[in-house]
Amino acid sequence: MDNPEDFWDSFYRERSQVWSGEPNKFLVREAASLAPRSALDLGCGEGADAIWLAQHGWSVTAIDISAVALGRAAAHAAALGLAGRIDWQQHDLAAWTPTAAYDLVSAQFLHSPVDFPREEVLRTAAGAVAPGGTLLVVGHEAFPPWSRHPAPEVPLPRPAEVADQLGLAAGHWQVETAESPAREVTGPDGQSAVLTDSVLRVRRLDH
Ligand SMILES: C[S@@+](CC[C@H](N)C(=O)[O-])C[C@H]1O[C@@H](n2cnc3c(N)ncnc32)[C@H](O)[C@@H]1O
Repeated sequence: MDNPEDFWDSFYRERSQVWSGEPNKFLVREAASLAPRSALDLGCGEGADAIWLAQHGWSVTAIDISAVALGRAAAHAAALGLAGRIDWQQHDLAAWTPTAAYDLVSAQFLHSPVDFPREEVLRTAAGAVAPGGTLLVVGHEAFPPWSRHPAPEVPLPRPAEVADQLGLAAGHWQVETAESPAREVTGPDGQSAVLTDSVLRVRRLDH
């Protein structure tokens, strides 16, 4: 299946809930020290991060390609009384141009096995950060053994490489976090693995 929208809709339809419902731990850790203003969550999936941000005072725009995921996310937010604090938008990020600037732009595990120009999307994301704002890119440094990615053995960029790929203008950005933490995880069929994540937080300086 080549069409990314169809791929992700059918991925989400396989189960009534795919992700844990908990926010990503590095989002929670990194956003905790920021003043809650406007946030953009790219590839928001079932919405746990956007919901956590809204619960902590952020005004959130959350984008995903999958209407199935967005429907679940919006229903969950509405049940929590947060409907007015999150603007759920369906876009293909490969063809999306931001029309506003945000104090926090977050991309959490924004990986896709189908036709996804991740570097370009992240560069566009950097362009959506307001002066003084933060870009947080968290992802895999290596795909899990059960990944559906067509080339799971290909290593993914480490945080410093992600920073290079963003093409940030010298003197206008500061790297605040660049880490490769490891964690133990359990796969969909109960398999154990140790995964390494890539955590990059950069701040756009206020000039
Ligand atoms: C691995 S999931 C991560 C979801 C969520 N950020 C999380 O950490 O639980 C990747 C998400 O990116 C979305 N996605 C993939 N390709 C996309 C695209 N071209 N445009 C927008 N969203 C996309 C998928 O639908 C999926 O929800």
